Amino acid sequence: MEPAALRRGLNVGDAQHLRDTWRDLEPPTSILTSPPYLDMHDYGNTSPIGARGQPLSEYLVQMSRLFEDCGHISTPDATMWLVAGAIRRNGRLIALPDKLATCAEQAGWVLRESITWDKQKALPWTHHGELRDVTEQVLLFSKADDFRFDADDLRSPIPNSVWWRRFPERYSPNGRMPTNLWSIPIPTQGSWTGLRSHICPFPEELTHRMLSLTTIRGDTVLDPLAGIGSVPAMAEAMGRTGYGLELTAEYAKRYEQTFESAKRFLALLEDDSRHRDAFRETIIELRLLKFAKLLGKQVTEAGFGVSWVRAGKSCRQPAYSFQVASGDFELVLNDESVREPALAAARHAIQRKPLSKFGIDADIVPIGAAAAAVQGHWYASGYFWNPPCTDRPQSGEPHVVANFRPDPDSIDDTPYP
Ligand SMILES: C[S@@+](CC[C@H](N)C(=O)[O-])C[C@H]1O[C@@H](n2cnc3c(N)ncnc32)[C@H](O)[C@@H]1O
Repeated sequence: MEPAALRRGLNVGDAQHLRDTWRDLEPPTSILTSPPYLDMHDYGNTSPIGARGQPLSEYLVQMSRLFEDCGHISTPDATMWLVAGAIRRNGRLIALPDKLATCAEQAGWVLRESITWDKQKALPWTHHGELRDVTEQVLLFSKADDFRFDADDLRSPIPNSVWWRRFPERYSPNGRMPTNLWSIPIPTQGSWTGLRSHICPFPEELTHRMLSLTTIRGDTVLDPLAGIGSVPAMAEAMGRTGYGLELTAEYAKRYEQTFESAKRFLALLEDDSRHRDAFRETIIELRLLKFAKLLGKQVTEAGFGVSWVRAGKSCRQPAYSFQVASGDFELVLNDESVREPALAAARHAIQRKPLSKFGIDADIVPIGAAAAAVQGHWYASGYFWNPPCTDRPQSGEPHVVANFRPDPDSIDDTPYP
């Protein structure tokens, strides 16, 4: 009899029949899975994949077939994540992630990234010649060179430091790119006996990271060796369509619990995104301020006396995708009659380093000092050099006048050297 077609969520079934069960469904754009750890675990089923005592060569043949099937049912630009750790047999270390990567490549997948997952917990004991093993490898494959990979949601605000306050142009407003070392504690570490402690479910942060990197809302995601359904649950909670296959019916019963837990995890993440937005705004505002300062300096050096520069954030969409914001700059000149050549000098300056590196789409308006003085704006020049936050521009070097105020808690008033 033909096996039943899969439903959304977690299904009880055998991954070795994947081609037959994946019928009339959208092809997955991303596959995320962790293979049974050869004979280390008793998952409470009679799966020939990774069954106790199975020869390594047989296990690798079965995993190779599964990788081929995953390639067969998925979209041409699909990605595949594989999470696996090294195992030991008779005191010999077997680099299982390397062997599985070779199988996947032979099945048509190309290895794109290898991340070390620091699980932060391990068994308290080891054998002679071994250290406590707290890592697994998280491998990313794709079939085509062009595949979805977007790290923006995983970038993190950079901890308060003098460097990004002084050099905001060198830091992405989206925060820091994640590294290939992921420290994510495993949820529980029980004994190695009993069904429950053997399941080693993915922590929510791990599934969330993988899904954020290679999928968007509406994508179809599959875990053919799904355990308690951590992958389909997080996929569904993130607005993707998630499918999982698991041989052990007992695990499938925990799917509702897994799904609720994924939703709770996402709710907590929303706080993080507010923090990220605040960081983004601060970097952009700091860039605008420093841009204004350097603009004034360069126009002065070109021979046009600049009283100060007024910087404002504009709602205009930046002209180029590499630009992070648009800004309106009023170049307040000592001598109103040189507005045209001063504007030409300003335009020349913004097309060259360092200003061209700020990612600011600048609209510059030259104005005479007398006309500017009648408009009331407060001064933020103190964020970059002495004196801090004065009411009036000081004589001498050009000053920056801002009509916005960066969050005072996120920057300090340390004078710029
Ligand atoms: C490492 S665990 C996956 C745990 C999972 N990542 C989670 O978060 O719960 C591997 C799973 O593959 C299942 N498995 C083994 N052979 C299978 C097969 N032929 N078809 C489907 N599932 C299988 C095992 O029962 C086990 O639950």
